[in-house]
Amino acid sequence: MSFAMDLLLLATSWTHVLLAPYTKVEESFNLHATHDVLMYGAGRDNLHKFDHNTFPGAVPRTFIGSILLAWLTSPVAYVASQRGLLSTKLDLQIAVRLVLATLNATGFMLIRRTVCRRFGRPTGLMYVLLTCSQFHLPFWMGRTLPNMFALFPVNLAFYALYDRASQSQYPTRRNVDAAFALLTFTAVVFRSEVALLLAPLAIQALLLRHISFMRLIRIGFLSGMFSIGTYCYLCIEGSATVERLALTVTIDSYLWNQWPLWPELYGIYFNVYQGKSSDWGTSPLHAYFLSHLPKLLLGSLPLAVLGAALDNRVRALVLPPVLFIVLISCLGHKEWRFIIYVVPLFNIAAARGAWWMASRRKGGLFGRMTFLVAMGILALNYAITIVSTRASMANYPGGSALATFNDQYAHQHAVQVHISNLAAQTGASLFLQNHSPPYIPSMTAPATNDWVYNKTENLSPRDLTISTPLTHLITESSVEFIRTGRWKLVDSVQGFSRWKWNLPRGGITKVLEVPLWLSVLEMETNDQLYILERTK
Ligand SMILES: *[C@@H]1O[C@H](CO)[C@@H](O)[C@H](O)[C@H]1NC(C)=O
Repeated sequence: MSFAMDLLLLATSWTHVLLAPYTKVEESFNLHATHDVLMYGAGRDNLHKFDHNTFPGAVPRTFIGSILLAWLTSPVAYVASQRGLLSTKLDLQIAVRLVLATLNATGFMLIRRTVCRRFGRPTGLMYVLLTCSQFHLPFWMGRTLPNMFALFPVNLAFYALYDRASQSQYPTRRNVDAAFALLTFTAVVFRSEVALLLAPLAIQALLLRHISFMRLIRIGFLSGMFSIGTYCYLCIEGSATVERLALTVTIDSYLWNQWPLWPELYGIYFNVYQGKSSDWGTSPLHAYFLSHLPKLLLGSLPLAVLGAALDNRVRALVLPPVLFIVLISCLGHKEWRFIIYVVPLFNIAAARGAWWMASRRKGGLFGRMTFLVAMGILALNYAITIVSTRASMANYPGGSALATFNDQYAHQHAVQVHISNLAAQTGASLFLQNHSPPYIPSMTAPATNDWVYNKTENLSPRDLTISTPLTHLITESSVEFIRTGRWKLVDSVQGFSRWKWNLPRGGITKVLEVPLWLSVLEMETNDQLYILERTK
């Protein structure tokens, strides 16, 4: 039973990776960093080839997650290639994402164990079903967002804090120490907003006497130092080929070629102190509670409220995440991914509520009703997730376009293709540059590997047409190119546009006809990218 529950968590995360293998611009820094470390290693000789040197983002971000992910992926990639499972670089991207998904699924499995121990197995099962029924977290847990790197250590910390037998009041001292050490590490290295989650958890632990004030300070200080130390250690390890590297120079200073650089601290300075994050748009104070949280949790939200009303253990569990959201609501710029860490805790609360409702099914009419409502909420979650997944699968035109293109011209030599901005942002990652080096040693390069993939931005149709060696374009507008008479349209690539209600006109009897019923919600796609070939 436990095994089946864990398998379901893993299978869900893998399914999302396999259904939507391409990635978007938010993931691209870490994806490309992983790509570069996998392909070139972290030595100085190859550093100039790294993607961030050509396309730096607005703020430097840490490489640590990508380095660790690349290290974890390389043995997997080696084994996969020995078994003939790795035929393109896209397969390698999928391997990277599956490794990350597995790591995060492991975090959820540990929390599942906690739930079974403290609240009983049926609640554990509800926890798993609710988690898998949601869209955002399972969809994103195999995507290389910095937040998804932070998710694993945060989940480990929750596991350490909450894993104990149902009646025991106190977590063990070692667990509490480990939890705060992990949270500090995560806040220092990966995502600074985790500090806002750490604060209410620490206050709660103090009030419940799970830890003394002096010990908390000591742990925080030691682990903070240790995190920066680990940083240094990783730096030395990650750049073993670089001689005479000073101990204090962090890997990120080295990789970004700026000294000294602590990306998360710089991020706070840039986004909070200088207020730059507001440039990305601000949302009202209540946006997290009224818009992001419902989207992340779906039906778990009302169930979590019920769970909290029923059980004081649940109230103790959800209080810190609620305070965290209150704190982070004070920042103007809001994104769902900043609060993703609290979803597992709300799901525990929701599982408690859901099992209370479901276990009432033998208790007369009211009991049967609550059972049905609980099952209905779960079914609704799955329905929303299926619809969202369907739309997301069609939402990576850049990835589909470049993959199609690679296949279509697989036997042609010396292709030089320009990839437009939209294509690069919607899936045309470095891993899709299959007909051009680099390749990892264990992979056999395809027969044609002399292509040039050109991502240079801000080029006008004229720049792309006249006196350039470009042979093909993947572009979001075809008209002005075809008008020049030098390009012909080869293919167009569709992407998700919107959902359309297809209300049947034939009255209720028509609705009951099954095929028609299935087509009530229709996905509309439109041409988003065009593949053009030079004619002269
Ligand atoms: C991409 O193509 C443009 C137009 O020909 C050219 O100016 C640019 O140097 C190319 N970039 C690379 C990296 O080859």
